[in-house]
Amino acid sequence: MASTYGAAQVLVASNRGPVSYAVGEDGSLNAKRGGGGLVSGLSAIGSDADALWVCSALSDGDREAVRRGVGEDGVRMLDIPADVHADAYNGIANSVLWFVHHMLYQTPLEPVFDDEFRRQWTSYETYNRAFAEALAEEAAQGAAVVVQDYHLTLVPGMLRELRPDLRIGHFSHTPWAPPEYFRMLPDDVAGQVLRGMLGADRLGFLTQRWADAFTACAEQFAGGLGSTRIGVHGLGADADFLRKRSHEADVEERMAALREEIGEDRRTIVRVDRTELSKNIVRGLLAYRRLLDSHAEWRERVVHVAFAYPSRQDLAVYREYMAEVRRLADEINEQYGTPGWTPVVLHLKDDFARSLAAYRLADVALVNPIRDGMNLVAKEVPVVSDAGCALVLSREAGAFEELGEDAITVNPYDITGTAVALHEALSMRPEERAERSKRLAAAATALPPGQWFLDQLDALKG
Ligand code: G6P
Repeated sequence: MASTYGAAQVLVASNRGPVSYAVGEDGSLNAKRGGGGLVSGLSAIGSDADALWVCSALSDGDREAVRRGVGEDGVRMLDIPADVHADAYNGIANSVLWFVHHMLYQTPLEPVFDDEFRRQWTSYETYNRAFAEALAEEAAQGAAVVVQDYHLTLVPGMLRELRPDLRIGHFSHTPWAPPEYFRMLPDDVAGQVLRGMLGADRLGFLTQRWADAFTACAEQFAGGLGSTRIGVHGLGADADFLRKRSHEADVEERMAALREEIGEDRRTIVRVDRTELSKNIVRGLLAYRRLLDSHAEWRERVVHVAFAYPSRQDLAVYREYMAEVRRLADEINEQYGTPGWTPVVLHLKDDFARSLAAYRLADVALVNPIRDGMNLVAKEVPVVSDAGCALVLSREAGAFEELGEDAITVNPYDITGTAVALHEALSMRPEERAERSKRLAAAATALPPGQWFLDQLDALKG
């Protein structure tokens, strides 16, 4: 891995990096490695490849690690001032760009682009510049740089100015907004975002739909794509890792505990999400309530296992959403529960082993986002499921392009329709469920993370 300035041949830049630090009670720093597609993707290029991952210091522990000079080979954390980072990450990236691409605004009242927004936008520029400068410093002549996501839209353009010799790619893990929604952004800001992205040689998206939306925005608001190429790379599930990990002892233990919670002879409808507005957890619960209401035969015979893990809790709207999920789950349990049956088993504490346990047990997986770049849960459940699992899938998830044929499709806003889909999924014959699940698993693993990353690199170099 690269250790001296100007030596890295392959660079990745993202807000959230592969490792985070916590300060222990005795003052020592404890490192925790993260997972996800990018982490396993990057590992495919091997450890001697002079690769460097540039990311933000996010926690107090991360900042302390930077100050003490503690770090991992191949990772450089940027200690951007906490207030600048908060404006850029919470203010612009998560409250504006995320909302635009997922079309989450309640438009009679939002968005409001005022002086506060302008102030935060300046921080977003500063934060992007810090990444561009670090990458310019670290990259070897002609190196390949892959910038990730909506946090860093200005980096390709800034880096191009600093280092015209580099091959610069950008990959979006989110949807891209259609032009009529994207144009809500003030014109100068929309122009900066598009020109920043178009500083890249190549832009990657998870599906053709998001790639087309970007192209339409570029044509309408930035005079076209210019020399920038566009590619689609549908990140798949990591089958080898998941199959192995899901049979380890801690997962087996959690399966036993979950079986206790669920009870004997009951079907399970599983969902696993960050408690994220776009995941549509509340409407999922409403649809489940509708199912219990309209199909009394399922009462006592089904349990909705819902894992909603904390996310972006600095934002009030996320805290409120989490409270609403909890309130509604309690309400359903009060309304329908009996001494031996809890209709909704809700867990709010992040636990990957328990997620895998639920995947293995699931009869039905509910994946009903309003809009989602890909949705890896939809791809992971069929890979891990023990007996085969029926997938109820929103047509607005990127994964729908690859999995739609063998899933039961839902319009995520249609509660009645989602309840019907849940009934259909629960009623599916075991043989059909197993067959569909097998085909889903094959489609879900068509492009494993390692290949996904290497394809992007090859395309960038080619
Ligand atoms: C999405 C984004 C990622 C982000 C992740 C978790 O998948 O595309 O860039 O890292 O959500 O969100 P967080 O704000 O916790 O990093």
